[in-house]
Amino acid sequence: MKKLIEFMLILTVALTSTHGSEEVIYGQVGETVVLKPPQRPDRKDLYLYWFCDDTEVAWRNIQGRAEIEKFKDILHLHEDSLVIRNFTRERLGSTCYCQLKNGHTYLTKITYRLLNLNAGKSPSTPLLPKEELTLTCNAESLEGHKPEIHWLNPQGERVNDPSSIQGTHKLSAESRHNGEWVCVVKDKEKESKAKISVVVLGLSPEPSGPQYTSKSSPLTIPCSLLSHISWEQIKAKGIQEGTWHFSPKSGLSAISDEKQRLFSLSLEDPVTWKPDQNKGLTPADVKKGNLSLTKNRASEGDAGSYVCALKFKSGLILNSTVRVEMLQITSSPETELISGQQLNLTCSIGSPLPSHLQVKWFPPEKTSLPPLPPHGPHPAHLSIQEMSLGDGGKWRCELWQSDTKLTSAEIVLKIEPRLSTWMLVIICSVTAIIFLLIILAFIIRRRRQKMRHLRHRLCQCKNPKPKGFYRS
Ligand SMILES: *[C@@H]1O[C@H](CO)[C@@H](O)[C@H](O)[C@H]1NC(C)=O
Ligand SMILES: *[C@@H]1O[C@H](CO)[C@@H](O)[C@H](O)[C@H]1NC(C)=O
Repeated sequence: MKKLIEFMLILTVALTSTHGSEEVIYGQVGETVVLKPPQRPDRKDLYLYWFCDDTEVAWRNIQGRAEIEKFKDILHLHEDSLVIRNFTRERLGSTCYCQLKNGHTYLTKITYRLLNLNAGKSPSTPLLPKEELTLTCNAESLEGHKPEIHWLNPQGERVNDPSSIQGTHKLSAESRHNGEWVCVVKDKEKESKAKISVVVLGLSPEPSGPQYTSKSSPLTIPCSLLSHISWEQIKAKGIQEGTWHFSPKSGLSAISDEKQRLFSLSLEDPVTWKPDQNKGLTPADVKKGNLSLTKNRASEGDAGSYVCALKFKSGLILNSTVRVEMLQITSSPETELISGQQLNLTCSIGSPLPSHLQVKWFPPEKTSLPPLPPHGPHPAHLSIQEMSLGDGGKWRCELWQSDTKLTSAEIVLKIEPRLSTWMLVIICSVTAIIFLLIILAFIIRRRRQKMRHLRHRLCQCKNPKPKGFYRS
């Protein structure tokens, strides 16, 4: 009786495990699909067979030797999993199963129902912003059972357009649409995914604010193709021309209508910039998609708006605008002063500073100015009632945005002592006195000489020379 029960138990266990489980697999057409073997701790000690459409396609024995029998071009085994490259259900049949065998006994079996999941896009080429794109996702279904389908955008958010056919998503391309889109198929709480990548052409995001520089600082005007884009893709899209334009800043904050072409793109291989009015700017490595312009030292006329644009035959344009502001210190009345004079120093960009920017002053070390708060912010306008000699030298003004220094400007003040005119008078007087003294001394000397001469003559008459002195 006990033996019988034992036998029955073994039989039922064997029956259920041989019958095994069944799983539905949505395989993305053209992609790689992995079918996993039954999970058993003793799997390594068992024979393993993979069947597709009831034909043995692969096996592995207990010595670890493995062989692919059919579909060698698309199948391989990886740790007992069946890896299918370039998947399509039509090729393999609608079911595959994995079976484990111990001697002559079939143990666990796992069956996979294969279904096609097809994700596509139209057009299939890279897009320009504003172009239409249609994403489609088709999932085969088992009899009388429709899975639920939706798309996730590259940011991982679910997109809904209820009006359309399930699995179809239409959009007008924007840069945020660039990246990997995922079609999610939900069937009986089990999710399967198909991925498709969308390329939207674009220029590097415009800097969030202006570029700040000064006459003592370098200037970089950034613009580049997004890192995933090559010139081949741009050319394939039908580029017509590429340009850099400049409109100088005029008046307080307005940008003038005047537009100067700085560079134009020569589209022959390799792509290069041809200068028109380059304003001393040097292009970066345009072959690598870096369209930036640089200059070692900015100059006054560089403030304004710079536009980097790529124009396509379809009429669509990719462009990026960079504003450049010059930080400058102005001194009123002038930079050469006499001590005691009043002076106004202003650190500005020629138009009111946006409120999120702060100014920090660095006066010369020996300044007579009461110390400014060390961590700023300082007023943009300094008014000094009486300049002292120590205020001469280099004044620096820095522009900060929270903890980031944007740029700095410098000015050199020359201060002459106030007494210089008095000193001049003194120097002149001293010179005059010395001159007079010299003249006086000369006159006195001449006089003495004359007197001696006269005396000499007088005594010659009175006392003639003795005769004995004559030699003849
Ligand atoms: C482009 O070139 C400029 C100047 O050489 C450099 O500062 C910038 O980082 C480069 N940009 C990119 C995106 O490589
Ligand atoms: C300095 O600025 C004040 C007002 O801000 C003005 O009254 C004064 O005339 C200015 N002085 C000079 C020398 O510009």
